[in-house]
Amino acid sequence: MNSNNNKEENIKPKDFALSEKSIKKFIKPQKIANNLYFFDTVDSTFNKLSEFEPAEGLTIVAAKQTNGRGRLGRKWESGNGGIYFSFLLPPPKKAENAPFITLICALGVYRALSRYTNCGIKWPNDIVSNSKKLCGILTKTNLVGNNIESIAVGIGINANTEIFDAELKYATSLKLLCGNYIDENKLFAETIQEIDNAYYNMSDTEILSEYKKACVTLNSSVAVHFINNNSKEFGTCTDILQDGSVNVTINEKTINVNSGEVSVRGIYDYA
Ligand code: BTN
Repeated sequence: MNSNNNKEENIKPKDFALSEKSIKKFIKPQKIANNLYFFDTVDSTFNKLSEFEPAEGLTIVAAKQTNGRGRLGRKWESGNGGIYFSFLLPPPKKAENAPFITLICALGVYRALSRYTNCGIKWPNDIVSNSKKLCGILTKTNLVGNNIESIAVGIGINANTEIFDAELKYATSLKLLCGNYIDENKLFAETIQEIDNAYYNMSDTEILSEYKKACVTLNSSVAVHFINNNSKEFGTCTDILQDGSVNVTINEKTINVNSGEVSVRGIYDYA
């Protein structure tokens, strides 16, 4: 291959960048994104979502965020090349099942990204490849009084991101992994479709079984960081439960923890 060809391959095709027109070419009729708004830039797709009348299927997608938010109060790098979106899901039938929604969304994204690269789920909801993070998911419960009115889900996918902040040593993108540019519109539509299918068509038992197969945390050595007292312990993740929590065996004692209490990492690297 000569250098000219290389040069051409390294230019992102114009229609691969997120745009309202191109998204509409790929999006299928389904519940999520049946009420879809596209923006070039927003502060956070979560904030934009809250400006609209809440309705099932309301979805905001943006090509860039100026104030993207991640889990545990962290910032989410949201420059060009990524896919940033938030959408509303109706509440689960039983309120205690709300944390499981995070796992359902992770499975949907995992299914979509697996079409492009070998990847896995780091509990509860990071998609990783080669121990680096490709995608992050954040869910928020919207309460009216004590009742869950809806669940807002926010997803950031590193699709064509090529440069990350130096401190993000555990971040990667599909472009960096695959070597070629990804059509962000197609990937967005595929991801929405997979989440829609998992949320509306799959049983909880099917989801958990597939999630466990895809989860790189299960049966791995993990470092458990307890958020309340900032302590750390080492153990093995031995099970994932229907409520979205995990069992971790530490010194022959098994404890059950949920993602609000702990952050779990591989002992040698991120995943
Ligand atoms: C994480 O920390 O792993 C979760 C990251 C979630 C980022 C997405 S990008 C779209 C939505 N808007 C935000 O501000 N955050 C979420």
